[in-house]
Amino acid sequence: MTLNIGLIGAGRIGLVHAATITQRVPSARLVAVADVNEAAARACAERYNVPFFTADPHAVIEHADVHAVLICSSTDTHAPLIEAAARAGKPIFCEKPIALDLAAVDRALDAVARAGVPLQVGFNRRFDPNFERLRRAVAEGEIGEPHLLHIISRDPAPPPIEYVKVSGGLFLDMAIHDFDMARFLLGSEIEEVFVAGAVRVDPAIGEAGDVDTAVTLLRFASGAIGTIDNSRRAAYGYDQRAEVFGSKGMAQTLNNYPNQVIVSTAESVRRDLPLHFFMQRYVESYQREIEAFVQAVLEGTPPPVNGDDGRAATVAALAAKRSLQEGRPVRLREVSA
Ligand SMILES: NC(=O)c1ccc[n+]([C@@H]2O[C@H](COP(=O)([O-])OP(=O)(O)OC[C@H]3O[C@@H](n4cnc5c(N)ncnc54)[C@H](O)[C@@H]3O)[C@@H](O)[C@H]2O)c1
Repeated sequence: MTLNIGLIGAGRIGLVHAATITQRVPSARLVAVADVNEAAARACAERYNVPFFTADPHAVIEHADVHAVLICSSTDTHAPLIEAAARAGKPIFCEKPIALDLAAVDRALDAVARAGVPLQVGFNRRFDPNFERLRRAVAEGEIGEPHLLHIISRDPAPPPIEYVKVSGGLFLDMAIHDFDMARFLLGSEIEEVFVAGAVRVDPAIGEAGDVDTAVTLLRFASGAIGTIDNSRRAAYGYDQRAEVFGSKGMAQTLNNYPNQVIVSTAESVRRDLPLHFFMQRYVESYQREIEAFVQAVLEGTPPPVNGDDGRAATVAALAAKRSLQEGRPVRLREVSA
């Protein structure tokens, strides 16, 4: 069986998914692509041999050959497009975040629940083999009861300032992956966050009302404590590490490299830089998340990352924003009953 997919948004991540579907997931076929920038839709269609392209996302949602919709457009379009796809009765994969405010998230999730369609949210890092193994070390008790979690998540360079302004900023756009990873790794809900944030990379980010450097302290329902360390610019490239420390031991995952070579000389011991950004570092995770979505839809089973996960990470991100603004620990309950 093959799942016919319609793609909405042919920007950075849309093109990653287009490549994944056409080159790496034989059980799926990309049959339509929409982008309000029609040239982007056309370029994607030509590159990946997609039979239909349009500037109108609704033409993809309503297309008779489209069995499921992948929403990869700008964040502010996600919730209305989820609602439209749900009304059309189509299974949905939506990039993170679902929306920047909870009312919009809840409207979208209500529409999904009413329509009874599956919704998977694009927390791809859960499908990365390293993070998956870390989760297993916790879930299977290899390191005992988790006490501490540390996530380091630094980008190689900030996005364009126009993107920073509309994307929701550091917490809702970038750290949202880390809030999801924290819940995933510990298998426990985040109850409280306390943020120290700063502008250390680019003053324009501060002028746009955001920070580019932050440490978020997390308290979990289980009693564990965690930190998320974010920067918009690591001089050496994408820095994606995590460690869980527990009563019986510790498990950690380091960066991924294009090769494993270590050059030792009289002067130094050195190696090449880590894989540069998400398009290189997370290729396998993108493939595995799309495979999981396609399999869930074809088999009629629930997607492994759902709307509730999307909502929970958004609540944590909104609490982090409030903590930064008010300079105090914020319980997630304050943001969402
Ligand atoms: N999971 C991940 O690793 C990951 C990585 C990058 C981006 N994202 C998410 O994916 C989304 C897109 O990010 P990006 O970096 O690809 O942005 P981008 O700006 O490169 O691409 C967005 C595309 O959507 C198009 N678009 C905007 N409104 C539209 C609409 N109503 N209908 C159809 N097309 C529309 C734009 O013309 C653009 O081509 C964001 O929500 C972002 O948070 C996720």
